[in-house]
Amino acid sequence: MNNTWLIDSPLDMHLHLRQGHMLDVVAPWSAKCFAGAVIMPNLVPPVTSVEMVVKYREEILRSGNDDRFTPYMTLFFRDYSEAELIAARKHIIGIKLYPDGVTTNSESGITDWRAYDHVLSIMEELSIPLLVHGETHGFVMDREREFMDTYQDMAQRHPRLKIIMEHITTREAVALLDRHVNLFATVTLHHLLLTLDDMAGGKLDPHLFCKPILKYPHDREALQNAVLSGHSKIMFGSDSAPHPIHQKECCGCAAGVFSAPTALPVLADFFDRRGKPELLQKFVSDHARKIYGINPPAKRVSLTRQSWRVPDKIGEVVPYMAGKEIPWTARPE
Ligand code: DOR
Ligand code: ZN
Repeated sequence: MNNTWLIDSPLDMHLHLRQGHMLDVVAPWSAKCFAGAVIMPNLVPPVTSVEMVVKYREEILRSGNDDRFTPYMTLFFRDYSEAELIAARKHIIGIKLYPDGVTTNSESGITDWRAYDHVLSIMEELSIPLLVHGETHGFVMDREREFMDTYQDMAQRHPRLKIIMEHITTREAVALLDRHVNLFATVTLHHLLLTLDDMAGGKLDPHLFCKPILKYPHDREALQNAVLSGHSKIMFGSDSAPHPIHQKECCGCAAGVFSAPTALPVLADFFDRRGKPELLQKFVSDHARKIYGINPPAKRVSLTRQSWRVPDKIGEVVPYMAGKEIPWTARPE
């Protein structure tokens, strides 16, 4: 039994870091053990200009305080002109599209993507990937499934546009991946490990409330099978989304699981238990490098079979697995 695994340049391809004090508290947890992360733009107000991207990137670098961590920036989707996108291109890894109101700070998202088809055409031309929060406004358990037609339309109309189905949660999304060469996906830790029962089957756990909502056992099984098959179109994206405790333990609980501090050790445990240690490197780095064509800073992170207790709180945020023992510890070399 190998008690130490070395991972080269782990990447988190979907991360919420927030702003101000929250950014100062959470960014070091990602910057320490990841070589890079795709930074979500759903701030207040959303990141909708190159100036905002550049400023936010500087804030992240300052708060993260690790020169071997690259924030891969995104813009919040809107009606951008070609000139704006040409100017933005070298500062961003992609543009994140939110349907209006489907999740935290997405009120200025779009109502009908077809009205913005010209923006997708320019992105396709400029090779700027489109990152999508794929949910409709339907019944909460069906929202992702109902979005599959939209993914399909987008992928067919824009065959050279790289489309990332963010945080997929369903068996249907896994199946769709194989039908279009230009579709890719991120998978979170919580959707890989949990079902709706973990959040709401017994006493309600607001710290597991997230969007898309946790799904059925058969959906989780489809995600696990795909990840454990080493599916090269699937990459790890934590969707770590911190909210202060008073916005989680209340009526009107905000959606989001703060998983960045525990992600790598919990993933090590996941692959270890299934006898697939070699897949961790691919899932948390290699697939993303190929899909996006990125070359992250060289940073080796060791995962050691050594248990630690997750803090009850990090700043004002309750992390995933708070107060529990995790059998693996992550450390940068
Ligand atoms: O659970 C979530 N939290 N899902 C999202 O899509 C957004 C995120 C957040 O920003 O809080
Ligand atoms: Zn997200």
